[in-house]
This record gives sequence, structure tokens and C-alpha cells, in this order.
Amino acid sequence: MKLLTAAAILSSAAAFAPTQSASRSTQLMSTIEAGVPERVAPDAGFMPDWEDRPGLAPEEFMQSDMGKPDLSGMWECPLTRWDSEGINVAEAQRMAKKVPHCPMEVRASSADNAKGAQYFADNASQIKQDLLKYGAIWFRGFDLMKSVNGYRDMYEALGIDPCLDPLHSSGLRKFASERDALYEEVNKPSLRGHYIGLHCESTAKRTAAYAAFVCFQKATEGGGRFLVADGAAILAEMDPKVLQKLYDRKIRISVSNLDIPPSIPGPLKEGIKNLVDVAVAPKFDMDLEMIYEADGKPGRLQAVESAESPINRHPVTGLPVWFNNAHNHARKLRDRRPCGVPEVGMTEVFYADTMEPLSLEDCQEIKRASEKHITALSMEPGDVLLVDNYRALHGRDVFQGDRFHAVSWFTWDNEEWRGDERRIVEKNGMNKMINGMMDWLPKDFESNQS
Ligand SMILES: [Fe+2]
Repeated sequence: MKLLTAAAILSSAAAFAPTQSASRSTQLMSTIEAGVPERVAPDAGFMPDWEDRPGLAPEEFMQSDMGKPDLSGMWECPLTRWDSEGINVAEAQRMAKKVPHCPMEVRASSADNAKGAQYFADNASQIKQDLLKYGAIWFRGFDLMKSVNGYRDMYEALGIDPCLDPLHSSGLRKFASERDALYEEVNKPSLRGHYIGLHCESTAKRTAAYAAFVCFQKATEGGGRFLVADGAAILAEMDPKVLQKLYDRKIRISVSNLDIPPSIPGPLKEGIKNLVDVAVAPKFDMDLEMIYEADGKPGRLQAVESAESPINRHPVTGLPVWFNNAHNHARKLRDRRPCGVPEVGMTEVFYADTMEPLSLEDCQEIKRASEKHITALSMEPGDVLLVDNYRALHGRDVFQGDRFHAVSWFTWDNEEWRGDERRIVEKNGMNKMINGMMDWLPKDFESNQS
């Protein structure tokens, strides 16, 4: 395979960035098992009311403060801090049971609003303590964060440093305002009907320390609740037998499928595998292994992450937490709820020891325990959800109409955990062009964002 054409590389790249039109034609094919299960909207334990607070017009909320420095050269997303050896599951559940309800809610008074960014500067230390205690804080009704520049004032007042999204290197993450280190959430109309299950913004390799999700415009025609759930509460809730099994066997997640005609001769199949491995996988900055037919489909090549523990101790508090993306990525759950992802972008979760997909029973227990602890937030303009990304998981419900939510990721405040890598702003023309073309391809990786 020494003659690699750009087209070949990009057609392989397309495996990681499926097309919109494919999403319609392959939706019905998204179940490998016999029979197509019914799709049911997932549950949520808590559902606060909408309040219909007004926002600003897009030309107002998108304004950046050009007097502030350009933050495009932000920190790299830090490496994942795994601490998962020797966990006693029963003891972990006892510890996790003691946590208070997540998220904590902070509602702006008129005095708070009058203070603007000073409110966050004055309360930064308390807010950081509360974030460790509750896992997430929902700031409601703050006028300051109704715009991009006010949102940046908020995180600067808190003294937290933005970093790249863990999947930034794929070129598939879009900025809402690059100079403010602000990414768009999945607002695009083609993914309105796609439910994004619970996940941390994390790969086995990189994990952001914190996130601040902001609403500038809620969905104009309904839906679009932002989901948050405490990983400690999910851990405490889960059937101990399922938890022990998953902890003992570990999990592996496949992030993309490339279906090769099964009749292709073995050596050529190996060549395709090597091509994808060499040309495309490194763009994702994940430890991916290319594996044929792990889910049983003839000719299917899957890009599979390394084995990881489904439970991790929080890097600061040591609290054991359900820390994995199975609720979002398990195929048996996706096949049973609104899912707009074409076959090429369908994910799966495997038991790491045998590479068998998770059983339906285990998926259903993950779903039950997770959804019981979901708070489906009614986020409105100016609302921010500050999240400890090692503790609370997030997602978003389907929506109708237009929506504009955005998110910044944050790194650690100590050098050792943060590392010293900063973003290298891409100046290489060829890479820029390939990223540009990949960006043009509609993207499924977005579906793992929210
Ligand atoms: Fe996300």
C-alpha cells in the first residue's frame, strides 16, 4: 500500500466523519440484531420547569470583546488521570451514596446581576469548593452570560484556564468564537433529532478538567434540555453485580465502523486496515486499534479505544465515580432511542477481556441507573452549567427549531497535571486543507459532544 492517494485517505477519513445524507438512508440499518427494536425517549429523574427568560439577538450575543487577547493558542487538553486500581466496589458504592444532589442551583438576585463579573471574582473560591462537593453548578438567570464576551468575563473572573476539546485534533470540532476559546455544542439541524447520551468529555487518553456549558438561545420550537448526572450517584445506584462485572472485565469503546466488502481478499483487507491506522487514526489523538468484525458483522473494520476501567477515583477528592461513556456509546441503547447517526459513526461498548458487545441486560441496568439521576435542565439565555468533568456526566435531549448553546473546556490549575503543551495553531497549508475538507463532511463525532 505505498501509493496512497488523497482520495483514498479522505474516503477513509469519511469513515470517521459520516455524511448527512447517509444518516437518513442508514437509520433503519442501525440494528444488527434480528428485528428492529422500538425507539423510546429516554427518562430523566428531575425535570425543572422552563421560565421563558429572554435572550439577546444573535448579532448581539456573538460579539467578542476585541480589546481582549486572542486565546486561540490555548492549552492542550490534559492527559486523562486514571486512578482505578484496587477499587472495592461495595465500599465505593457506600462512599458514593453520601453525595448531595447534583447540580447545585445558584439563582442570580438583582444584586448579583448588578455586580456583573465581580460576582464571580468575589465568590470564586466558594464556587470551586461547591463544584467539588456537588459535581456541577447551574447558574440561572445571570445577565452577564447572555453574550460571548460576558461569558468570557465570567470564566476569567473565576480564574480558570481554557483548553482544547479532547477531540480537537480531529478537526471536527467547531468553534463558536475561537478567540474566546468557545466551542459550539451540537446545534446543527441535522442532529436535532439525535439524543446525546451521558458522557464525560473524555477519551481513554485525554480529559478536560472542567466545562462551562452556556445557553445563548434555547431551542425555538421546544426540547433541547441539557442533561447532567452525578457519576457518584450513578455508581451508588447501580446493581453491584453488574458494576463488579464491568469493573473486573473493563470496557473498550469502538468509535467508528468502516464496512469493507467481505469478499475482498485478505491481504487487501490488511492493507486497508493499515492505511486507516496510519493515515487517519492519528488525527484523532486517541489510542485506537483497528479490529475486524468485533461486532460480528462480516467485513466491518472498527476503530477501538484501549481498555479502560468504568470506575475512576476523582483526581482531587479520591471519590470513586462512574466515569465512562457507555450510556452514550452502547449500541443497544442507541438502537432503542432517537438516534440520527449513520452506520459508519455508530459506536459500541465491549467487555475488554473478550471483545463481546455489552449484553442487553447490562445496557438496561446502565440506562436505569443513569437516567434515574439525570436532571434535564431547562437552560435559558444566560444560564451556565459549570461541570466537574471527572465527576458529572452530560448529554442533551432532542430539540425542534434553532438552538445556540456553546461550551469551553478548562484545564487544571497546577502545572504538573496541566502539562506544558499549548495548541499549535495550524499554519501548514496541506493539513489545513485536509481539515477543511473533513470539516465540510458532516460529522458524527459531534454526536459525542453535546
Ligand atoms: Fe459532550
